[in-house]
Amino acid sequence: MSVPVDEGQLISMLLKIMNAKKTLEIGVFTGYSLLATALALPDDGKAIAIDQDKEAYEVGLPFIRKAGVEHKINYIHSDGMITLNNLLKNERQEGEFEFAFVDADKENYINYHELLLKLVKVGGVIAYDNTLWSGRVAPSEHDEQVEDTARDALRKLNSFLASDSRIDSSLVSIADGLTLCRRLR
Ligand SMILES: C[S@@+](CC[C@H](N)C(=O)[O-])C[C@H]1O[C@@H](n2cnc3c(N)ncnc32)[C@H](O)[C@@H]1O
Repeated sequence: MSVPVDEGQLISMLLKIMNAKKTLEIGVFTGYSLLATALALPDDGKAIAIDQDKEAYEVGLPFIRKAGVEHKINYIHSDGMITLNNLLKNERQEGEFEFAFVDADKENYINYHELLLKLVKVGGVIAYDNTLWSGRVAPSEHDEQVEDTARDALRKLNSFLASDSRIDSSLVSIADGLTLCRRLR
């Protein structure tokens, strides 16, 4: 379930180019993309990481500790939508983040988008993973017969992002597809 190495490196490179200090991640699993993020942040940087499966995070935690970056991570064991809404109740969190990485429940990406557009600052980047869904976002006769709610949600998201005037977007064909959205206003 973790992103592959090349995608981790791309995220790391982006964070360094942007001089990011505060990031959000929804969907941590064992923490591979989070580790890549934390390593790319400065020593006083902060990554808020949200997942509802703490057992998986505990598997990866020894590696995060060994890398010496645990102090940069604020792990929140909860649901993504609940946590983003809670962050937004605190006005100081609006426009506070330079980068957000979304790699959780695909059906909610479109809902995360609205909240992340408030939490990520103008000029900041929201990155959505799996936007190619193994190529299944492209129409094919065979695939149409198969029920796949994630595929349907990602198709809807891709169309939505392509015409969202609040962002610049680019679907990078790395790994399973990574859509980068830069907040314009
Ligand atoms: C693909 S994995 C994340 C992999 C991780 N980003 C990496 O590359 O190392 C997806 C994770 O999303 C979490 N998840 C799914 N739905 C969620 C939700 N509604 N709120 C929070 N986490 C959720 C799952 O528990 C799972 O650990």
